[in-house]
Amino acid sequence: MTTGKFITFEGGEGGGKSTQLALLAKVLEDAGIEVVTTREPGGTSGAEEIRDLLVRGTTDRWAPLAEVLLHFAARIDHVEKVIQPALETGAWVLCDRFTDSTMAYQGGGHGLGFDRIRELHHQILGNFRPDLTLILDLPVEEGLARAFGRAGAEDRYERMDLGFHERIRATFLAIGEEEPNRCAIIDATGGVDDVQRDICAEVSHRLGADLKATGRETEQ
Ligand code: TMP
Repeated sequence: MTTGKFITFEGGEGGGKSTQLALLAKVLEDAGIEVVTTREPGGTSGAEEIRDLLVRGTTDRWAPLAEVLLHFAARIDHVEKVIQPALETGAWVLCDRFTDSTMAYQGGGHGLGFDRIRELHHQILGNFRPDLTLILDLPVEEGLARAFGRAGAEDRYERMDLGFHERIRATFLAIGEEEPNRCAIIDATGGVDDVQRDICAEVSHRLGADLKATGRETEQ
């Protein structure tokens, strides 16, 4: 059976993941590829309800392990109902965040460590992994300044301290270095079009698609 490709976008706050995900979706569609875009936490009605519990409210709202379990509860619903079925039809799934975010935010940021999260992932999802993970990297203070520039109530993680965000960045970079076949670290300090060019080059090279970056005018 032909299955689609599963591409995840990762990184700290304010790295431009959502913008780049939308741009890549358009480029893939222009190349004749069927695309499903989605996000975590979220992507199903139940997982979106769990999202509200996670991204709003006081920073100390959850014990760190409870937070991990909520992210995985949302993830299993999302994988079973949206991601796997879409891949089985041959669509390419572009997902804003996945288990690497749990490793970075809860494992690194909250200091829970990585073994329990790896184990949970394995128990729940086996060897299911992204075909490609694009890690959008930029200095923490720059990312937070961009993120705080956007209005919104979903800012529970953004309000956590600088050390939390530095540990997140360090964890994403470590994951990228440990798994170079799956992960590409993208310099997100450049302009939107520069970052899109780098992303298209990685996707073309690693997944064998012949893509042309088209720039911001393609964004919906
Ligand atoms: P977003 O801002 O990228 O939409 O993601 C929502 C927030 O959820 C973001 O601050 C990162 C956080 N998050 C985790 O802490 N752990 C996870 O496993 C996921 C998927 C997201």
